Amino acid sequence: MELYLDTSDIAAVKKLARVFPLAGVTTNPSIVASGAVPIEKLLPALHEALDGRGRLFAQVLANDAAGMVAEAHKLREMVADLVVKVPVTAEGLAAIKRLKAEGIPTLGTAVYGAAQGLLAALAGAEYIAPYVNRVDAQGGDGIQTVTDLQRLLTLHAPQSKVLAASFKTPRQALDCLLAGCGSITLPLDVAQQMIAAPAVSAAVEKFEQDWLAAFGRVTL
Ligand code: E4P
Repeated sequence: MELYLDTSDIAAVKKLARVFPLAGVTTNPSIVASGAVPIEKLLPALHEALDGRGRLFAQVLANDAAGMVAEAHKLREMVADLVVKVPVTAEGLAAIKRLKAEGIPTLGTAVYGAAQGLLAALAGAEYIAPYVNRVDAQGGDGIQTVTDLQRLLTLHAPQSKVLAASFKTPRQALDCLLAGCGSITLPLDVAQQMIAAPAVSAAVEKFEQDWLAAFGRVTL
């Protein structure tokens, strides 16, 4: 599977790339805006923070296909192997088809339904990002959306992958993975919650105390 961080925090990516088995970093316009670093500086810095090894994703802002394609080229000038995120609107589908023909990898984003995601896959998107928590927040079922989409891709568009997004809890992420999706992107707080349970530190401290009491040191 592929695990991504959904962030524009360069220092955090540097730190977590040492620890986490990261496949790369995803961003969106809101995430980029929250850091206030100009995108021309941010994307190369994130690429470097990943030691040039992970995949980086950034999104177009234009609403029409021609504008999206032009922005995709601009983003790829900032980081050559970047995956271009394109919202799955009607114009977005047209842009995905054109970018596919040019050999530029895309991720279909802002996906709220399995049918929408399937269309993006058929248009040629390499990744499809269903928004799990946002679907739940609208009264829908985010995990069911991922389950349906994953099944549809397996049956009808096996060249595309679900990269599930929009998580507020590790449980939502695990449920997506249990539903068969092979890639997830997590905000920093959710990624950290996966290893930061208070019981874990308490268990490690108790091992140290027991060892210290018996041998007078905390090394082997
Ligand atoms: C990723 O593709 C999405 O832009 C992102 O995960 C959305 O997350 P949010 O719903 O927490 O804003």
